[in-house]
Amino acid sequence: MTDLRLFPKIELHLHLEGAAPPALVRRLGAEQGKDLTGLFDEGGGYAWSDFTTFLAAYETMSRVFEDPETYADLTEAVLREQAANGVVYTEIFLSPPSLFGGDCGRWEAMRAAAEAGADRVPGLACRFIPVVIRHHGPEAARTGTAAMLKAPRGRIRGFGMAGDERAFHPRDFAGCFAEAREAGLRLTAHAGEFGGPESVRAALDDLGVERIGHGVRAIEDASLVARLAAEGVTLEVCPGSNLALGLYPSLAAHPVARLREAGCRVTISTDDPPFFRDTMTKEYERLAMTFGWGEGQFAALFRTALEAAFCGPETKAAVARRLDGGAGSLSSAENEGPRT
Ligand code: HPA
Ligand code: ZN
Repeated sequence: MTDLRLFPKIELHLHLEGAAPPALVRRLGAEQGKDLTGLFDEGGGYAWSDFTTFLAAYETMSRVFEDPETYADLTEAVLREQAANGVVYTEIFLSPPSLFGGDCGRWEAMRAAAEAGADRVPGLACRFIPVVIRHHGPEAARTGTAAMLKAPRGRIRGFGMAGDERAFHPRDFAGCFAEAREAGLRLTAHAGEFGGPESVRAALDDLGVERIGHGVRAIEDASLVARLAAEGVTLEVCPGSNLALGLYPSLAAHPVARLREAGCRVTISTDDPPFFRDTMTKEYERLAMTFGWGEGQFAALFRTALEAAFCGPETKAAVARRLDGGAGSLSSAENEGPRT
């Protein structure tokens, strides 16, 4: 295959704030007079050294996106970058500070801003997944979820949890997930990244999720891998993120190919691309180089991701045509609607 940038892709695991271009954050920080000391390295990228300092940098940079106008601009910038990498359908995690404040009006203003930003980008369809942040604790999750569920849905189709998997236990958030499910949202949670197989089991059993963010450390337990395959749980695998955060020394040592071979439903995403100096194109190039994957495997990834997508059947049918039709454009009408 010549140019993998052009191959149509589906991305299911991308944090909106985590995808913010460093130059945009630097400019907004200066305009707003925010103290961003230590956020950038000498090359102008984000500075961090491990998962804990990554999460701290993430929270610092998120503070420049506290008003709706900046959130709309961020959404537009992120979707344009995805479209430039051949992404034709994406689901994006939203975690603006106002989700946690439990302030329904502020949350609604931020959600509407993200919608407005998405409306400006033709060529791909997107849906949103608000996420609670595990290390902020169950009470913040509860108030944020309640506010989010009171507001209009727009492109929201799912609900999830990100943050530090080493803090609290999934059962502490079971109420939020139950309410979101009751409200008709589909469920995913980060697990099996900095926690082992027991963490993935807890997400399945205590939260009832149908997708797992990462999930790669399931490979440490053959019976769990068999369960994931048998139950058709989709893994939102982010190999570049796992390598950057030091989970594995190389892609060759990463379990992505072994999980696929064991029958797990594997999809590929970038997580927080500027933090990890990553793009969807680079992900595909590394998979091609390391495992010899080509059009057949990439088309299979597309179909698996489309099946696991939280959008409705009309959108799925429109997105499916992008694989058959190559790199043609989705009309802006297909991005704006059908909103299923
Ligand atoms: N793990 C957990 N929380 C996150 C991540 C991640 O990789 N990225 C952004 N929030
Ligand atoms: Zn993530």
